[in-house]
Amino acid sequence: MSLFVSSQILALGAIFLATLLLPKFLRWRARMAKLNAIPTVGNSGIFSSYISAYRFKDHALEILQEGYEKYPGRAFKVPLPDGWQVIVSGKAMVDDIRKANDQELSFPKAINKVMQTDYTLGRPARADPYHIDVVRTPLTRNLGARFEDLRDEIKAAFADEIPAKESEWMKVPMLYTVMNIVSRTSNRYFVGSPLCRDPDYMKLNIEFTIDAFNGAKTLQRYPGFLKPLARQFLTNVPACVARATKHLKPMIEERLRKEEEYGTTDWPGKPNDLISWLLDEANTEDRRKDIVYNIVSRILVVNFAAIHTTSVTFTNSLYHLAAHPDILEPLREEVKTCVEEHGWTKAGMGQMRKLDSFMKETQRLVGVGGLAMTRMAMRDFTFSDGTVVPAGTIVSTASYSLHHDANLYQEPESLNAFRFSDMRAKEGEGYKHQMVAQDPSYALFGSGGRHMCPGRFFAVNELKALLGHVLLTYDIKFENNTGVPPPHWDGASVSPNRTALVMFKKRAV
Ligand code: HEM
Ligand SMILES: *[C@@H]1O[C@H](CO)[C@@H](O)[C@H](O)[C@H]1NC(C)=O
Ligand SMILES: *[C@@H]1O[C@H](CO)[C@@H](O)[C@H](O)[C@H]1NC(C)=O
Repeated sequence: MSLFVSSQILALGAIFLATLLLPKFLRWRARMAKLNAIPTVGNSGIFSSYISAYRFKDHALEILQEGYEKYPGRAFKVPLPDGWQVIVSGKAMVDDIRKANDQELSFPKAINKVMQTDYTLGRPARADPYHIDVVRTPLTRNLGARFEDLRDEIKAAFADEIPAKESEWMKVPMLYTVMNIVSRTSNRYFVGSPLCRDPDYMKLNIEFTIDAFNGAKTLQRYPGFLKPLARQFLTNVPACVARATKHLKPMIEERLRKEEEYGTTDWPGKPNDLISWLLDEANTEDRRKDIVYNIVSRILVVNFAAIHTTSVTFTNSLYHLAAHPDILEPLREEVKTCVEEHGWTKAGMGQMRKLDSFMKETQRLVGVGGLAMTRMAMRDFTFSDGTVVPAGTIVSTASYSLHHDANLYQEPESLNAFRFSDMRAKEGEGYKHQMVAQDPSYALFGSGGRHMCPGRFFAVNELKALLGHVLLTYDIKFENNTGVPPPHWDGASVSPNRTALVMFKKRAV
């Protein structure tokens, strides 16, 4: 009897579970049926795909390259630890992604999967991302007006961080030093001095990116209703926000007081910086709610997007400069000429074509990762060749393979510093091959479309001012003339060697 009852309960339980899980299972099966039409690189069996997913951590490049070569201009899928990812290549498919809107292929939804946006970068910046317009327009448009400040901070930052003498070589841990310099100079532009020089504020903006990434990794393991608790007790995000608030709140409140006092948002003496540009854009009642946290979290988000990306780019360029002394002189010559003619100005940076080419080329060779243009399919998405990617799937392009494609770049594995400036001269095409241009063979900032990096004009101008300063101020080399240390790959992301030292000596002028 009791056996009968318990088996009845078991049966009821099974039916209950089945009705709960069946729809989920059916959706999964329908999605897999569609994904099955896309060829796989690695194993596609349920268990063997786990082995491939594991392999991706250390062999991402080989796997992506294999797919790129086997399926040129087509789609393939790879098993990653958190599900199947579809990779596409070729101009037509990249154009499909570029032209798709966020209701078809969503950039913020793809970011959310990795970053758990609401709990790391904050809800305001996700729900109403007006800071992107601020980066695209006032932040970029004020480069000319604010260049002097940028230049001033670059001089001061290098004097503090790399006080090399004429008489002897100084060994500098490169990535670490560059992070400090980039955090400080970028924030001179964003929030002004003295805050940009505050050691805790500088450190905070470097650490926030790492804390947000690590926090997101933790949060991925918790269901939605536990995420707020997990954020509070298991991540460093609340501590970062508190630190940022401590530094920024007095400044934000001072600006609000002035608005009140003068009865206008356009009061005399208003600083021309990111805080003001964000407040200008916060022009509705909704956007003014909880205004201090609202502005603080957006400043953190802009730093999140700006500091590590720019530091990695700068470090890669410096490693190649130190390893290729033959490139130093022509670049130095160009910087000298441009600065003599235009000063340290936006116009001056615009003339530095060889430097632009060298920077673009080092990023082509090394780059910031194996994948770009990452999006999430919001509904079944059909590419122009008929490939269907089912809703919920992450799609990317194989940027590293693109940058190393021998059909696009002659001798793709070697550094040809003036590759792009030579193209510009030859074709009489002044702008097409510059670093910020939308170029179908280049994906550092994305490949066009509405999400292409809006900060790239700022980044490239700042990078030229930074590298220009190094070229005119120092001689640099690797100890014992060793070459560029190999970059560090983890899955599809890559970063320059974190501990390598570069030797600096002050130039006799
Ligand atoms: C060398 C430095 C940088 C690199 C390599 C870089 C790269 C990128 C890439 C690849 C994207 C995504 C594009 C896409 O998938 O279509 C992006 C987006 C973005 N970047 Fe940058 N970036 C850099 C510097 C900056 C700076 C300095 C800022 C701000 C001042 C910035 C702000 C942003 C923002 C706000 C987005 C999101 C745009 C959107 O959601 O529509 N970036 N960046
Ligand atoms: C350079 O050579 C010296 C002497 O052989 C050695 O002590 C030093 O560790 C070397 N440094 C590097 C970075 O290889
Ligand atoms: C970074 O470079 C240093 C020497 O420059 C080397 O000892 C170290 O192993 C490298 N690290 C990685 C992760 O490649």
